[in-house]
Amino acid sequence: MTDDILVVNKLTKQFGGLKAVGGQGGLSFNVKRGALVGLIGPNGAGKSTTFNLISGVLEPSSGSVALNGKDLSNIKSSEIASHGLGRTFQTPRAFTSLSVLENVMVGAGSTGERLTSVFSGSWRTDEADIKSKAIEVLQQVGLDDRIGDIVANLSGGELRMLEVARQLIRDPEILLLDEPTAGVDPSLQGKLSSILVDLHNEGRTLIVVEHNLHFLLSIADVVIVLQNGELLAEGTPNEIKNDQRVISAYLGDEYAA
Ligand SMILES: Nc1ncnc2c1ncn2[C@@H]1O[C@H](COP(=O)(O)OP(=O)(O)OP(=O)(O)O)[C@@H](O)[C@H]1O
Ligand SMILES: [Mg+2]
Repeated sequence: MTDDILVVNKLTKQFGGLKAVGGQGGLSFNVKRGALVGLIGPNGAGKSTTFNLISGVLEPSSGSVALNGKDLSNIKSSEIASHGLGRTFQTPRAFTSLSVLENVMVGAGSTGERLTSVFSGSWRTDEADIKSKAIEVLQQVGLDDRIGDIVANLSGGELRMLEVARQLIRDPEILLLDEPTAGVDPSLQGKLSSILVDLHNEGRTLIVVEHNLHFLLSIADVVIVLQNGELLAEGTPNEIKNDQRVISAYLGDEYAA
């Protein structure tokens, strides 16, 4: 097995007349196993669309994505989680009438797996296992004191962490996070950053889309910059902060070292 967990190869996505991802030659980049990758770029650069293409929510117009050497082209988005890929959305999604714990437990398995467990009678032990695993991941994201609360009562930041917990219960090797700090109280951003660093230290691969660059550039080990759907630059946070093309397209002078 190579060091690359994810290989994005000449990916393009066309919406009517607009090429949202890929530009001329298609978007290509590789992600090393265990890396914490920042994906940045101006509004409309194609970051969320790239996540949607990798996670199978959208079908590419051309090009391919391979996870652990396996081509994901014909795999449904609902099945991609069982191949080790988890993702959160720019707008958090949750079952608002269920409790925090229930939301995480519901995320644990595919419907098919749950039906099989009911027929085999294994669901009683499965449920106990799932519950303890759900409590464990809620502790990991700092929501253990909210376990019994209804999701409608959570703050924006707590909803984002619930999304992460719903992914962690399936133990993803690679996790794509779309703007995890959006709507998060600035006082909680330090906590969020240490949660992401912990996930990275556990050996998980993370790709994080963020506009909060102070947050992202302090934790990422590689940064990919998109502009108009194309790869503008790729490098360490220091290289990116000092890249003239990135400074003029997106960063401004504020970050230059
Ligand atoms: N479903 C869609 N149908 C048509 N156009 C779309 C669709 N989704 C995205 N776009 C367009 O594709 C381009 C890239 O959008 P995308 O959401 O990927 O950008 P982004 O980099 O995530 O931006 P932001 O930082 O604002 O979240 C934009 O011009 C957007 O309007
Ligand atoms: Mg987006």
